[in-house]
Amino acid sequence: MLRREAAEFPANGLPAADRFSGSGNHNSIKSFLEVRKMKQESKIPYKIYLEESEMPTSWYNMRADMKNKPAPLLNPGTLKPMTFEELRGVFCDDLVRQELDDTTAYVEIPEEIRNFYRMYRPSPLVRAYCLEEKLQTPAKIYYKFEGNNTSGSHKLNSAIAQAYYAKKQGLKGVTTETGAGQWGTALSMACAYLGLDCKVYMVKVSYEQKPFRREVMRTYGASVTPSPSMETEVGRKILAEHPGTTGSLGCAISEAVEVATTNEGYRYVLGSVLNQVLLHQSVIGLESKIAMDKYGITPDIIIGCAGGGSNLGGLIAPFMGEKLRGEKDYRVIAVEPASCPSFTRGKFAYDFCDTGMICPLAKMYTLGSGFIPSPNHAGGLRFHGMSTILSQLYHDGLMEATSVEQTSVFEAAEMFARVEGILPAPESAHAIRVAIDEALKCKETGEEKTILFGLTGTGYFDLVAYEKFNDGVMNDYIPTDEDLQKGFDGIPKFPGNEI
Ligand SMILES: Cc1ncc(COP(=O)(O)O)c(C=O)c1O
Repeated sequence: MLRREAAEFPANGLPAADRFSGSGNHNSIKSFLEVRKMKQESKIPYKIYLEESEMPTSWYNMRADMKNKPAPLLNPGTLKPMTFEELRGVFCDDLVRQELDDTTAYVEIPEEIRNFYRMYRPSPLVRAYCLEEKLQTPAKIYYKFEGNNTSGSHKLNSAIAQAYYAKKQGLKGVTTETGAGQWGTALSMACAYLGLDCKVYMVKVSYEQKPFRREVMRTYGASVTPSPSMETEVGRKILAEHPGTTGSLGCAISEAVEVATTNEGYRYVLGSVLNQVLLHQSVIGLESKIAMDKYGITPDIIIGCAGGGSNLGGLIAPFMGEKLRGEKDYRVIAVEPASCPSFTRGKFAYDFCDTGMICPLAKMYTLGSGFIPSPNHAGGLRFHGMSTILSQLYHDGLMEATSVEQTSVFEAAEMFARVEGILPAPESAHAIRVAIDEALKCKETGEEKTILFGLTGTGYFDLVAYEKFNDGVMNDYIPTDEDLQKGFDGIPKFPGNEI
């Protein structure tokens, strides 16, 4: 019944306060302004879908508006900024150009990529009326849902872009790592569409916990190898040093890079962290902003989970652009797992992006490239580092970060699934947790804040995690300072990189 009332609310204009108080007798004491506001509110549909013609035609590059640019990637041998020539051995040429471009604000989305986007975009911006009802909060909650494609997450937005540039360059194929499996699945789909070979190194713990995601990748034609593996030099070395390791994104990256650089016609592609990936993911924020502007909605708080930072960087992009240009202000919150707290407990320093220490050095919030987080069901958030763009924004006080424990994340996921109907990915549920917490704060203070969060994906392949939660056997592991120190000890030491 409650649910039906909530569903009818936008159309029948039931006063919000009545829904929250559970009574229908307060209309007489409502001021004209309150009633007018409710009427305006009632026009906001459950889902705002843009027309295809309203979709962005360019990506937005936040770096163009940043006064303090993210620090350049360094060559670990010379400690000098990586050049185009050095990077093009690993990445496709066009993607290297995007990676190094700190000044172009808008980059046109090639027609072929826009056509692919049309297969699953625009994605809906959803008003979480049912969650608001459940929480009895005056806050207005919106989420941008990126899980409406077969790969199940936002990762497809960059996968198709990276596969497109590889194809354009005439390459045979690409290699990559995958944690939770969403990125690998997205890349497999994109490569199948464009006829490119795709080799995926999948973090061993996910390979074992998520056999079905592995099969989706294979169905799309990718080869999937559990990492660390005996196939690569770096994999053999990691296994010798850490026998029985369940792997990490850092290990899998090392393996994928080694394979790309030792096989003719292959390049490496990465699903997060890099500037180019945040650029592609800006489509999330651009669409959100167009939809919000259309209905006169301005978010007060923008929340996203942060693994390597791509969905959050994409969601906040146009809003952060306004903030950087001094036009508007928004509160931005990155949410990370307490078991892998790069922002909240990491160091801002140059570090390797991979465990094998073969990748360039990036200046970022890091737990040390040797840090292997405890097995956590949000596999996509188990990366030791963070996007250099987000790291700089966080360092400059332009955004906040918080960490949450996985049991509380799954409590939020369960509530969300029950009231909003979508089974969220554990990664996305980190953002849900904090959105709920912020909405509950509004309930205490009576503030009607507008909250926007990124619902990055669905959790259909995460049912082992849901099973653990339902059986009450999920545990929360928070690393001790000593655990973290071991990771910090591995951060390279050179003048200017003191931690
Ligand atoms: C559903 C989902 N959300 C979020 C993330 C985190 O990645 P990022 O911080 O790059 O958005 C992942 C990574 O695999 C993911 O699969």
